[in-house]
Amino acid sequence: MNPYSASLFFDQDALADFQQLLRVFKQKRQKIFVLLDDNTRLYCWPLIQSYCAEMQDDIALIVIPHGEENKNIDQLQIIWKQLTKAGAAKDGVLINLGGGVITDLGGFAAASYKRGITTIHFPTTLLAMVDASLGGKTGIDFEGYKNHIGSFYQPLRVYILTKFLKTLPEKQWKSGLGELIKYSFLTGKDLSLIENFSSDRNQHLQKVITDAALFKLKVVAEDPMENGYRKILNFGHTIGHAFESFAMSSGKTLMHGEAVAAGIIAELFLSVDLKGLKKSVLEEYISFYQKHFEPFQISPSEISALVDIIAHDKKNRGGDLLMVCIDRHHMPVFDVSVEPELLRKCLRWYSELF
Ligand SMILES: NC(=O)c1ccc[n+]([C@@H]2O[C@H](COP(=O)([O-])OP(=O)(O)OC[C@H]3O[C@@H](n4cnc5c(N)ncnc54)[C@H](O)[C@@H]3O)[C@@H](O)[C@H]2O)c1
Repeated sequence: MNPYSASLFFDQDALADFQQLLRVFKQKRQKIFVLLDDNTRLYCWPLIQSYCAEMQDDIALIVIPHGEENKNIDQLQIIWKQLTKAGAAKDGVLINLGGGVITDLGGFAAASYKRGITTIHFPTTLLAMVDASLGGKTGIDFEGYKNHIGSFYQPLRVYILTKFLKTLPEKQWKSGLGELIKYSFLTGKDLSLIENFSSDRNQHLQKVITDAALFKLKVVAEDPMENGYRKILNFGHTIGHAFESFAMSSGKTLMHGEAVAAGIIAELFLSVDLKGLKKSVLEEYISFYQKHFEPFQISPSEISALVDIIAHDKKNRGGDLLMVCIDRHHMPVFDVSVEPELLRKCLRWYSELF
């Protein structure tokens, strides 16, 4: 049995397990903290609050402002301070109720407080359900670099409750879509499941989320610390992260998954050039992207800044730019070395696309 999927529970099973676990915490008099942002406090907390009723006096909420700009050292300190002030001990429990910002930040707070306290994720965005809450990567952005400081830290449980998605804004759905597209490429599937999902969300929701979450955990189980195979999950992310960091520093709004969806275009271009992927796959994806996303544009004058950001990416080693590509058999290949000149060519091509 995959130890990671053993800690993943969906919907009713999740709520039943959560109640059981809370009873254990109560018995052992463990202090419980729930990290939320202002939106998940408003929309998501009421959906699980009644389950915590028995423990009301032993649960403290830590509410931070929403948004990627808060996945930072200041908010991390606020969490550490609140835990410290409330006397959280080594057996404290931090429950993270939110999107990827909350699960990344809360996961890292839990990993670092007293060298590690128990943490549980309740992802509330599509993106966090299929990606961010799974696999134990935690961290914060620093000095303009995404996920620059962080650690691997596995949550005790991940509880996926699809009912949270009822209040998810449209833009956030699109962001989750970016990660789902990534899985389509990694599993060699065509885009039809994602196309169907986009046109009728409710009908395909359970299957799409379950398949994606279990696929991710299967990859994580093979390579928990990302020494090799797990790197395939970074497909679309090297250039996607650069788009995201660049957008953040220049005041443009670009969600993580939207950045990944755009990054996939550039990384498919490299796959055609370096790994013999059929050009028609790239062309088909560009049409799909244009249909479902507002295209992310870059200008030729921004290419140097983007190359600099990519050169700083933590996936690079020894000066080589390393990426994930899809090969001619539609299989992912990691650690593909990309010459800076090819990267520039790719970004120049991208800048002329939209
Ligand atoms: N650790 C990983 O493996 C991993 C993987 C992918 C992404 N990430 C990280 O995830 C982050 C992005 O996560 P995200 O897209 O979930 O963003 P997010 O956490 O910022 O959430 C998006 C917005 O939706 C709101 N929200 C969340 N749930 C809601 C709900 N149910 N109803 C209404 N509003 C809701 C939030 O308040 C926020 O404003 C990035 O920082 C990225 O780096 C991490």
